[in-house]
Amino acid sequence: MGKKGKEAARAGGRAGAVVTGADRGIGYGYEIARQLALHGLHGRGREDPCGGGDGGERGVASVPAFAAWAAQTHGGIHVLVNNAGVNFNRGADNSVEFADQVIETNYLGTKRMIEAMMPVMKPSHDGRIVNVSSRLGRLNGRRNRIGDASLRERLLNDDHLFEELIDEMVMKFPEQTKQDNWSSKWPQMYTDYSVSKLAVNAYTRLLAMILWDRHDGQKIYINCFCPGWFKTAMTGWEGNI
Ligand SMILES: NC(=O)c1ccc[n+]([C@@H]2O[C@H](COP(=O)([O-])OP(=O)(O)OC[C@H]3O[C@@H](n4cnc5c(N)ncnc54)[C@H](OP(=O)(O)O)[C@@H]3O)[C@@H](O)[C@H]2O)c1
Repeated sequence: MGKKGKEAARAGGRAGAVVTGADRGIGYGYEIARQLALHGLHGRGREDPCGGGDGGERGVASVPAFAAWAAQTHGGIHVLVNNAGVNFNRGADNSVEFADQVIETNYLGTKRMIEAMMPVMKPSHDGRIVNVSSRLGRLNGRRNRIGDASLRERLLNDDHLFEELIDEMVMKFPEQTKQDNWSSKWPQMYTDYSVSKLAVNAYTRLLAMILWDRHDGQKIYINCFCPGWFKTAMTGWEGNI
């Protein structure tokens, strides 16, 4: 067992991690599940009794059931990795046909998992939530960013960053795609995916500020990252890695 796993085990039983979307792609075959195992954390997979994908994110109803199961069976978890995601565009395509599903899975699914799993995270010195995001979700990307400068500024300003602002943005987006000039207002590349990851990034920043003041022993550190361009089903097996 790695150092982190041993520390977590001392703090409250065996260290456990949940990785969503870990049956293939980056979550499984590449790094996340393997690296966690190398650090001595044990994870749960397909046999979990809540249906759906690893971590039980597949349905709205299954998430609270999964959290209850993790609490009951393992006394909670130490690490949550929100990796599950979808993107329906490839190459130069930029369809928003599946925008609702993209926002639902990538942003609302991530948020739902965090809300359900945070109460069952075991008291620890270094609990972790990691959100797998994308560089396409950068607020100030040079070639791919929100057209509305005032919305960008509000999302960048820590004093004005609220959950309601992020939610309002993701609600407004599918509505605006029904208008003719929608594309000038939103990121230009893989727009629905970019908006969903932009929301994940902003929500991660917001939670980091909220969780910052937790006492030692109750700490949860949260961050998001872009894994790079990976050859997975999502990219049609194109990529650098
Ligand atoms: N590949 C890249 O180049 C790249 C770049 C930047 C960021 N990312 C991010 O990395 C993460 C993993 O992507 P990947 O490339 O590994 O994609 P992938 O191979 O397509 O795997 C996606 C995973 O998400 C799961 N999933 C999709 N919708 C779900 C839902 N509603 N509930 C539960 N699980 C769901 C899938 O489960 P099923 O098998 O059951 O469908 C699968 O396990 C995503 O968040 C993606 O946005 C990827």
